Amino acid sequence: MHDNERPAGWDERHPDNRRLGWDERHSHGDFEGDGPNPTLVAGVAGLAPGSALELAAGSGTNAVWLASQGWRTTAVDWSPVGLANGRAKADEAAVEVEWLERDLFVWAPPPRSVDLVVIVYLHVPPNERAVIYPHAAAAVAPGGRLLIVGHDKLNATEGEGGPQDTARLFTADEIAAELLVVDPTLVIERSEVVRRIPPPGRAPIDSLLILRRPQP
Ligand SMILES: C[S@@+](CC[C@H](N)C(=O)[O-])C[C@H]1O[C@@H](n2cnc3c(N)ncnc32)[C@H](O)[C@@H]1O
Repeated sequence: MHDNERPAGWDERHPDNRRLGWDERHSHGDFEGDGPNPTLVAGVAGLAPGSALELAAGSGTNAVWLASQGWRTTAVDWSPVGLANGRAKADEAAVEVEWLERDLFVWAPPPRSVDLVVIVYLHVPPNERAVIYPHAAAAVAPGGRLLIVGHDKLNATEGEGGPQDTARLFTADEIAAELLVVDPTLVIERSEVVRRIPPPGRAPIDSLLILRRPQP
């Protein structure tokens, strides 16, 4: 639906309308780029594949890549259009991914159930992060990891693309601090700013956070 087709009283903050907005973005093709997020790829390097869960998986580029690397992957998003794109990519790549249509403001993955929980480029306001990210952390099985990639706060002034609303941007250290309050048993493995090219060149600047849940 385009701006000029929206009915009177349309509230773009309402979750149903936000979901429709994502459907629309996913229906225009793949805005996620040609391949998996490079910061995700760097973060996963060296990990032994097991079960993986990508929350807010969008059109599935990262989930399909994880599956191609041997991860038993489940991808969750509330956009049926995004998930349909993901299914098509998985078919083309001849990999299996479980696709779940869920609203992350309502649904939470089973606790302590997954070896690798991934969230890439979910830029929601802090009050919504405070719902979704602790659920993601809780889903990490003993010995497993939570990997979060976002556009870093620096991206708004020194980077490229991503939301301009800085309230939706974060540093990895901020997210780590928020999650360690909720679960102090988690261990920070990486908390970094990742630049694709050195300054003053402009390219996306990511935050990368990897937390591990120790074995009991
Ligand atoms: C910028 S896209 C990122 C997609 C993918 N992770 C990537 O990096 O390519 C953000 C995704 O978050 C999803 N999303 C936002 N809020 C959500 C919610 N409450 N429940 C499920 N998915 C949500 C949107 O549908 C969209 O597909």
